[in-house]
Amino acid sequence: MPLDAALRSIPLFSQLREEDLERLARAARDRHCPRDTVIAFEDDPGDALYVIMRGRIKVVLTSEDGREVILSTRGKGEFFGEMSLIDDEPRSAHVIAMEDSELLVLRREDFLSCVEEMPGIAVGVLRSLCRRLRRADDLIGGLVLLDVPGRVARLLLQLADENDGTLVTRDLTHHTIAQMIGSSRETVSRTLRSFANQDIIETARRSITIKNREALEVAAGKETLGRVQPPAAVPETPGDRAQVHPFGRRRTDPTGQHSPGA
Ligand code: CMP
Repeated sequence: MPLDAALRSIPLFSQLREEDLERLARAARDRHCPRDTVIAFEDDPGDALYVIMRGRIKVVLTSEDGREVILSTRGKGEFFGEMSLIDDEPRSAHVIAMEDSELLVLRREDFLSCVEEMPGIAVGVLRSLCRRLRRADDLIGGLVLLDVPGRVARLLLQLADENDGTLVTRDLTHHTIAQMIGSSRETVSRTLRSFANQDIIETARRSITIKNREALEVAAGKETLGRVQPPAAVPETPGDRAQVHPFGRRRTDPTGQHSPGA
């Protein structure tokens, strides 16, 4: 597919005029990132915006002892790396390829001139920042107000809603889910087993199907008057809550070997 047509399929650029798309296509370059490549390092200067054409990335913070919290994952059609270009601060987090990924890279000057000259892009970026803030609010609320089953339930609902409302097709390990909700792999595994035993979800190798959405919503604190009993509380492993707090601003290299990212 020609680059301008590929760019047209990206929601952020879909409203642009033909000549603006062509200009963008001339300014962008491709980058292939094998799985586990660190695309951007926390605290590095931001020199580019990335658009995901294929694959999936995760946005992570790491603690000094190597633990990782996943702030977000992004897939095809989404972008990242805009924050440091807009506020002129260093990268706010590490960005790592979760799968083999194809990216389009827009250099800082090109992105900023697009934002200045094409109001559609500025509105798209603002919309994405608002969506992210809502998610962050949701996550913070969940961390403070919900136990681990509640947080798992909320994440499953969120991921299913990105699909058809029922199916979570993302290939997520229990460890990854734990890193997304500030828990431990063991507690997540116990929680998923407990949901499955109560027929709330059905797990397969690469997917999870929600069988009883109402019960999951009750567990996620989305309904106060649920008719279905929420799953029994799963005892938390020490550190389930503490894991999300101790992430300092000091640079820690998630690969152990720092090299210039982009
Ligand atoms: P930047 O700070 O330049 O580099 C890291 C990128 O990760 C950042 O831009 C955003 O694109 C993305 N990012 C940072 N925090 C979050 C978050 N809480 N949710 C989703 N994406 C984020």
